[in-house]
Amino acid sequence: MAYNLLKGKKGIIFGALDNKSIAWKVAEKAHAEGAKFTLSNTLTALRFGQLDTLAEKTGSLVIPADATNVDDLNNVFEKSMEELGGKVDFVLHSIGMSLNVRKKRVYNELDYNFLNKTLDISSISFHKMLQVAYKMDAINRWGSVLALSYIAAQRTLYGYNDMADAKALLESIARSFGYIYGREKKIRVNTISQSPTYTTAGSGVKGMNALMDFTERMSPLGNADADECANYCIILFSDLTRKITMQNLFHDGGFSSMGMSLRAMKMYNRSLDGDLDIE
Ligand SMILES: NC(=O)c1ccc[n+]([C@@H]2O[C@H](COP(=O)([O-])OP(=O)(O)OC[C@H]3O[C@@H](n4cnc5c(N)ncnc54)[C@H](O)[C@@H]3O)[C@@H](O)[C@H]2O)c1
Repeated sequence: MAYNLLKGKKGIIFGALDNKSIAWKVAEKAHAEGAKFTLSNTLTALRFGQLDTLAEKTGSLVIPADATNVDDLNNVFEKSMEELGGKVDFVLHSIGMSLNVRKKRVYNELDYNFLNKTLDISSISFHKMLQVAYKMDAINRWGSVLALSYIAAQRTLYGYNDMADAKALLESIARSFGYIYGREKKIRVNTISQSPTYTTAGSGVKGMNALMDFTERMSPLGNADADECANYCIILFSDLTRKITMQNLFHDGGFSSMGMSLRAMKMYNRSLDGDLDIE
């Protein structure tokens, strides 16, 4: 069901790869809610992903960019304003990648060139995006910028590796730039800290199946899926959330406030000896 929450709004959505991507779901919902937007991803993603299908479905222009490249980002914002007929109202940064994770380098054996790439792609690209938009004055007053994060920024989760450091930096950038953008232009900047979700990036996380089972058992409302995450993004792009900024907003079924749940305790006991009283 659509509510016209983004009627007349314009945006840029970075990071839709295939129909499992969180950004893909955001694009579908933004379209249903009346927004017009452009889509961006790397040339490799355009070659191997399915972005053309999404572009056709939502009537959107695709503008290739490596989000670590400032010239590419300048081009995305310039072309988007041309295509959409003026400044944008929302931007989604849905980008993450770690070569250390891909190449199975554990956290105490990091390759530092890979680490620099992880930080550049997954976090500093967010600063670059914000700085490009700020200098170009590309976002309307009361606009909304969002990036996607994960609770490994605050808590250590086995296997998340250098992406934990990347997410901590990403959330810090949202606060630091959020202050300046809010003060100067009344634009909000937030991160959503999403449950583990089955996507291409998500599947790269070590022990993803066990992690998702654990967080599902620990969360009173269960894991949040990509569709639900997209709903939350839409509300944060809408005018209903104008005074929310510089926040890391957990969207995780309650996981971030839990220590131990009955469902997790039952599972844990079963794997011990099954005899402990859990009431
Ligand atoms: N899937 C999860 O479990 C989960 C949980 C919390 C947060 N997140 C975050 O959500 C965001 C979206 O990931 P997803 O799960 O939808 O997976 P995804 O693989 O569909 O999306 C990741 C995107 O990053 C893009 N990307 C990589 N390098 C890039 C570069 N240099 N320039 C531009 N784009 C680049 C990829 O092409 C891809 O489209 C990421 O920031 C991810 O860390 C994911």
